[in-house]
Amino acid sequence: MKVALLGYGTVGSGVVEVINSNSDSIEKRAGKPIEIKYVLDLRDFPNDPVNELIVHDINVILEDDEVEIVAEAMGGINPAYKFAKSCLENGKSYVTSNKELVALHGAELLEIARKNNVNFLFEASVGGGIPIIRPLNQSITADEIYEITGILNGTTNYILSKMKDEGRSFDDVLKEAQDLGYAEKNPAADVEGYDACRKIAILASLAFGEHVNFEDIPTEGITKITKEDMIYAEKMNCVIKLLGTCQKQDENVFARVSPMLISKTHPLAMVNDVFNAILVKGNMVGDLMFYGKGAGKLPTASAVVADIVDAAKHSGTNIMTIWNREKVELKARGDVRVGYFVRVAKVDEGIKSRIEEIFGEVREVEAINNEYAFITRVMKEKHFEQKLEALREIEVLSKIRVQE
Ligand code: HSE
Repeated sequence: MKVALLGYGTVGSGVVEVINSNSDSIEKRAGKPIEIKYVLDLRDFPNDPVNELIVHDINVILEDDEVEIVAEAMGGINPAYKFAKSCLENGKSYVTSNKELVALHGAELLEIARKNNVNFLFEASVGGGIPIIRPLNQSITADEIYEITGILNGTTNYILSKMKDEGRSFDDVLKEAQDLGYAEKNPAADVEGYDACRKIAILASLAFGEHVNFEDIPTEGITKITKEDMIYAEKMNCVIKLLGTCQKQDENVFARVSPMLISKTHPLAMVNDVFNAILVKGNMVGDLMFYGKGAGKLPTASAVVADIVDAAKHSGTNIMTIWNREKVELKARGDVRVGYFVRVAKVDEGIKSRIEEIFGEVREVEAINNEYAFITRVMKEKHFEQKLEALREIEVLSKIRVQE
């Protein structure tokens, strides 16, 4: 089975390494040897044996009927979208780790794959090496899935873990995560939550079978989380995690990405460093947890190669995936109910009564002098914002949602 690889960066070079390291077992599982025939990249790699496979023109791959599978690890929409369409239309299965591409064009590319009796597979686009796409599509098929909540970004989980354990600042740890090859080219994609947003959009679309548009998902990153927030979290026996969630109640779907305070007893609380975990709730099976390395060269490449094996096994057959192009109307952000942890500057001793006048009864948290911190009862986001607005003469130092 001849494969072309698009992109020879961190993940792309990992794909070559995985295929070379495990060629015997991969051959057994695929039922035939897997051979990389071309590697498309803008660059040359004179000191790497892969250099003899390098091509710079996609047409070489498109016009070679021997190539049945194309694996892409370039990222971004352009030219990946054009390449994916052309490959599928030319009867080649397309395997990708590219979450931007899948979140934006997944429904359309699946449809093109179906029409051409090939496969569009994207296990590596969510959760790095964790199998989650295939379980959603092929294993948990007896259930109505009503919630998926996960730690979906390795870089931010790494940063939050180090800030908590080592009392270090955000900027200091971000640099380390970049050096370890976890972060996106533009780190805003990680720290502002955009990467997790695309991943939860993909999971929600698969869970509910209709297109959840990532641009409709309220998204907040971790750039405002401070060392002081970590001190309060510890005091409350909680940790702070960047969670992506999608939930369906009755016919209402809501999704969000934001930092959350979760109890140390929550199943996602002990997921640290670059690890990701995804909690799936089904109405028959109950709670399932998927855990593993969510970023990095070999874990992500492992998922890409697993898709190559699946594409090889299903040569000539389309694996049905339900994700239609009809867009889901998400519940308005302001109508979602949640409790908040809030820190304000302690202007005077009367602050408590002033806050309770507005918020009703709150739970106080004491940790740092000259601050007043509290947890509100659960209320609609829009009501929380109105109440906070009524407090505008007081400086709000931070606000973080609290997982019930
Ligand atoms: N930058 C991403 C992360 C890579 O940190 O999780 C994997 O998608």
